[in-house]
Amino acid sequence: MNYAEAGGLARMALRGRLYSLPAVSTVSRRTATEPGARSPSSGHESLLLRAYRGEAVERVPVWFMRQAGRSLPEYRAIRKRADLLEICRTPDLAAEVTLLPIRRLGVDAAILFSDITLPLAAAGIDLEIVAGVGPVIADPIRSAADLGRLRPFDPAADAPYVAEAVRLAVAELDVPLIGFAGGPFTLASYLIEGGPSKAHTHTRRLMYGEPLLWRRLLEALAEIAVASLRAQVAAGAQAVQVFESWAGALSPDSYREFVLPAAQRIFSGIADLGVPRVHFGVGTGELLPLMATAGADVVGVDWRLPLGVARKRLGGEIPVQGNLDPAICLAPWEVVAQHVDTVLDGGGGRGHVFNLGHGVAPETDPDILRRVVERVHEHGVSRRIAAPARPDPPGD
Ligand code: CP3
Repeated sequence: MNYAEAGGLARMALRGRLYSLPAVSTVSRRTATEPGARSPSSGHESLLLRAYRGEAVERVPVWFMRQAGRSLPEYRAIRKRADLLEICRTPDLAAEVTLLPIRRLGVDAAILFSDITLPLAAAGIDLEIVAGVGPVIADPIRSAADLGRLRPFDPAADAPYVAEAVRLAVAELDVPLIGFAGGPFTLASYLIEGGPSKAHTHTRRLMYGEPLLWRRLLEALAEIAVASLRAQVAAGAQAVQVFESWAGALSPDSYREFVLPAAQRIFSGIADLGVPRVHFGVGTGELLPLMATAGADVVGVDWRLPLGVARKRLGGEIPVQGNLDPAICLAPWEVVAQHVDTVLDGGGGRGHVFNLGHGVAPETDPDILRRVVERVHEHGVSRRIAAPARPDPPGD
């Protein structure tokens, strides 16, 4: 039996097991608290981890950013009974939501159900996640005195439910679980703006106007990310992603001066763990050469650049993740299929993990996502994988 067949059988077995679970909150606490409890096939040989390491794989693995929430009706049903942070703080529920897309979509990785702002709330920030809006912070951080309200984050004491959710999910999974944290610029923006922002004006004002305060804030946020990611990996996460979603608001020079050192601190602070580290941002086409120096093993690319061009900007060596425009998933299937193939061709097979260029849009039909997974599984095998890796695209 080749790897693909074995993977298919394992997935069928998993589906059978998961489908037999009642809808909500059925993960066994007893099984999952046994240290290291996980199915053997979720180990280091998985497709995802090999692709993240740039090794040859039989087919291109696929998962979706924001696959665990929003677009899934099962998630919406759970949300009627509990708000977002309550789900995150209830390990059974968080694990259950983490598993939903594995059952329904057949993706090659799970991402922990949590939020990038959760460690901030756990570290003393008065924060609410408002439905349809996003994270809202009552008292934004705009001065040295405000910064005092952001305590160091101790995952074991402040948010033990995260590690518990990781353990519960990993015990049920036969694909790797990806842990995550918010990037320092993205979290700083929420803290300084007090909520979601398109222009990030207060954030950039503070960054340019009070560089010492900015540096202290970013250092604190980098330490929060390191602590959070280390705790998730200790509990069983097998890869991690840093969502630096809003870094595309900066010029390369500003990114280099004001953000890169904190990004480097995060990736070096978890280097000894040996898990693949993904660095992702939106609108980062001009920042990719710098992001390549932050220390991540894989760089996530949004939909604005062909993957071949992104690879070139990254120096040609680093594996990439992406990059179907999430809005394409709202189009008729024939259009989606064509774009999936274009991404697969641009990805070049080796060192490519298929994903969207940003999170799943809430209005996405999960059945389209399931068909995308199927198509990547069918078409992402290949001559491309057998061929020498890393095509050199003409020009840029
Ligand atoms: O969706 C998943 O796969 C679940 C895990 C997850 C959530 N947030 C739960 C969530 C992940 C990976 C995140 C990351 C996150 N959170 C990011 C980085 C990814 C990205 O989209 O750029 C950012 C910027 C946030 C901050 C945040 N949290 C925003 C902007 C919002 C509101 C908009 C929205 O719908 O995403 C949230 C709320 C939130 N976090 C929801 C979910 C499922 C939706 C609201 C809800 O159910 O109440």
